[in-house]
Amino acid sequence: MKRCTTVREALRWSEEIRKRGFTMGLVPTMGAIHQGHLSLVEASLKECDRTAVTIFVNPTQFAPGEDLDSYPQPLEEDLNQLRALGVNMVYSPFVREVYPDAYSTYITVEGLTTMLCGKSRPAHFRGVTTVVCKFFNTFRPDRAFFGLKDYQQTVVVRRMVRDLDMNIQIRCCPIVREPDGLAMSSRNRYLSPEERQQALALSESLRIAESMITPDTSPETIRDIIQNRISSKPLARIDYIEIRHPETLEPVTDFDEGAVIALAVIFGKTRLIDNCLIAPGSDPFLSKNFKPASSSHPESYDIEVDCMR
Ligand code: PAJ
Repeated sequence: MKRCTTVREALRWSEEIRKRGFTMGLVPTMGAIHQGHLSLVEASLKECDRTAVTIFVNPTQFAPGEDLDSYPQPLEEDLNQLRALGVNMVYSPFVREVYPDAYSTYITVEGLTTMLCGKSRPAHFRGVTTVVCKFFNTFRPDRAFFGLKDYQQTVVVRRMVRDLDMNIQIRCCPIVREPDGLAMSSRNRYLSPEERQQALALSESLRIAESMITPDTSPETIRDIIQNRISSKPLARIDYIEIRHPETLEPVTDFDEGAVIALAVIFGKTRLIDNCLIAPGSDPFLSKNFKPASSSHPESYDIEVDCMR
């Protein structure tokens, strides 16, 4: 496994990959690698000739007072895990390399980024799209892999790719969960045992809600069920529980075109997110294999849920 920390080295490596006619998959991460990240890496290794992973705790997507300074950075452990899987390149630049002095260029996807997580984290997605765009420019991968755990992020990145005519296929992989259902996250380690226990209400309420959807159920009813269950946990502070259109992220009044049930809940200092996709026709079984129809753009921009896992 090759490792580099400068744009120059990363550019040179990716040019060489293209020259040799290999396809390349890119997996952007902030490190503290867990099975969720590794599932994206595995998908890339399966689909592409070469796989590059970025590890970069991106300061521009954190607001002052968020966990930038305490974000876990077990780099050696991360490298070992990625090496063991057969990753070809890890790019782990310093902040100065990505944002040199007088850095002044940002990518903003409008509209989609002011709702849901964007409401309580107004600058977050601007930081995400800026750094993802930079990594896309450096590597020019054929495919890039993202997790449905950060559902809004996948929608925002796909919109950026479409709007800016980037020739990159965005692949979205299913949420990887702990055996008890908690969605894996680098931030789970901040939870106290009590918070960790109560945080199970997120996945549990989503599962229950999903099973209660019929062609006649209204999104409000489902929302209430989730809200009641989560608010019964004394340590939980709800940021949002929303039922939205899977592509536009606008509120929906029924489940006819499918929906994403997305939620963000704060436990102490830890903000957790989770979601579940409901397929058009309100059939919970289908939601496991849900592929929303693309709009007017080629299939490469579709959400491709890897349902093999
Ligand atoms: P990070 O939180 O490290 O996540 C990296 C990728 O792993 C994201 O695509 C995320 O959705 C995916 N992921 C995390 N937990 C997952 C889980 N339990 N199941 C499936 N996939 C999971 O997301 C970011 O970093 C950053 O915003 C980034 C895109 C790297 C830009 O800085």
